[in-house]
Amino acid sequence: MKKIDKTIMLGTSISANQAEGYWNINGKGLSIAEMRRYNPSLNQKDINTERKMTEEKIKEALDPNSKFYYPKKNGIDFFKHYKEDIKLLAEMNNDCFRTSIAWTRIFPNGDEVEPNEEGLKFYDDLIDELLKHNIEPIITISHYEMPYYLVEKFGGWKNKVLVEFYVKYAKTLLERYKNKVKYWIPFNEMNAANYSVWAGAGLRDDEHENILGLSVQALHNIFLANAAIIKEGKTISSNFKFGSMIATLLSYPEDANPLTILKTDKDQQMKIYAYFDVLHRGEYPQYALNLYKSFGMDLKITAEEKTLLKENTCDFIGFSYYMSGVISLNDEILTEGNLVKVGKNKHLKENEWGWQIDPVGLRILMNRLYDRYQKPLFILENGIGFKEKNPNLEMINDDYRIEYLKSHLEQIQKAFEDGVECIGYTMWSPFDIVSHGTSEMSKRYGLIYVDQDDFGQGTKKRIPKKSYYWFKKVCETREV
Ligand code: BG6
Repeated sequence: MKKIDKTIMLGTSISANQAEGYWNINGKGLSIAEMRRYNPSLNQKDINTERKMTEEKIKEALDPNSKFYYPKKNGIDFFKHYKEDIKLLAEMNNDCFRTSIAWTRIFPNGDEVEPNEEGLKFYDDLIDELLKHNIEPIITISHYEMPYYLVEKFGGWKNKVLVEFYVKYAKTLLERYKNKVKYWIPFNEMNAANYSVWAGAGLRDDEHENILGLSVQALHNIFLANAAIIKEGKTISSNFKFGSMIATLLSYPEDANPLTILKTDKDQQMKIYAYFDVLHRGEYPQYALNLYKSFGMDLKITAEEKTLLKENTCDFIGFSYYMSGVISLNDEILTEGNLVKVGKNKHLKENEWGWQIDPVGLRILMNRLYDRYQKPLFILENGIGFKEKNPNLEMINDDYRIEYLKSHLEQIQKAFEDGVECIGYTMWSPFDIVSHGTSEMSKRYGLIYVDQDDFGQGTKKRIPKKSYYWFKKVCETREV
């Protein structure tokens, strides 16, 4: 039995596009997330192909007679259910709750002069509801939710004009909620800009032969927007805390061959540190610039941009952690992972989607990040998807999920005892919601079952699982 230190906030995390639904109500515009289809003939172990967005898939998504279903347009009706849902979080005794604001509710196309009051009204109510229950809101300013119009008209984040639009949008939120929200995450998983270019940067996978190079340019604009938001934020409230957010893709060397170790170090520079270095040290490390050059992207960074990045770094290290992978000298045995395929580790078990379960990796990672940056950590996402059937709408005995969460929380506490500063943990996700990667409902992460299938059919009834009562007890007693 471990006791989680009381300084670590415990809570849960979702995103607007996977939960809210009502995608075109009250003036809301179409977001790029809502254009991701559900493909019933999807091969579960090859979702990276499905994730790619092509010209053809865009055409299909815009066709009102498309044969595909687009689940993120409907989410799990959180837009209408939010009071009932927040009540469940309050009864679970969550300290905090992380969600995103749908950019397209506030600026439907992204380039409007004035924000959409009706859209803001929803978040006024949502945030007030959280505060009423003493739940600290953690707000992601955008979780893969760019207005499609900005892709169509300006080409997504490769166009620097987006910095201006995004900062204006963020400023609207920072000013409006300055007395209500303290913790802000300007972007979800910024490394998605390189690994999942549609979601992370609004780029089409087939738009350029050097899509990786182009994504580096787009990411640079995202970094600039992040720094500009922090700069604005500081003038609005000295109480604000801004977090980075990277999908941490931890890799281990398969053996002690120095060449494998070197390859693993390089892999980690590319997958993790290149991002955090810019966000927390305020400058591009030379290894990243060299690497980008090798992708054919010779980044031109102005003196003014260098100052902006240097003077406006994030306050805490936010990240998601789900799984780990292995690096070997020949990458033959691969399995699925978050955003990318990774090498298989014979010591680890995996879920049905091939994600390898590695609680100790979280402790290793936390120590590494804290050693390198000496800033507090916030685990913004951690959880596991399972297929769960519930025809009689009963409480599901999800001991497997309890085991996953328990083992990860234990490692967080151990890292804390190692000396790592950690301010929070928000597990993914309190409710079953639409999967980001596959847009299916069958990949269930929830502590609470939601009666809905892959095509959005069902009563949408919420039924707490055994893990809900377990996590409630953890929040109350802080014992795992
Ligand atoms: C993270 C995303 O990468 O992983 C979430 O921020 C996502 O949006 C989560 O839901 C789990 O991924 P998936 O593809 O299983 O839903």
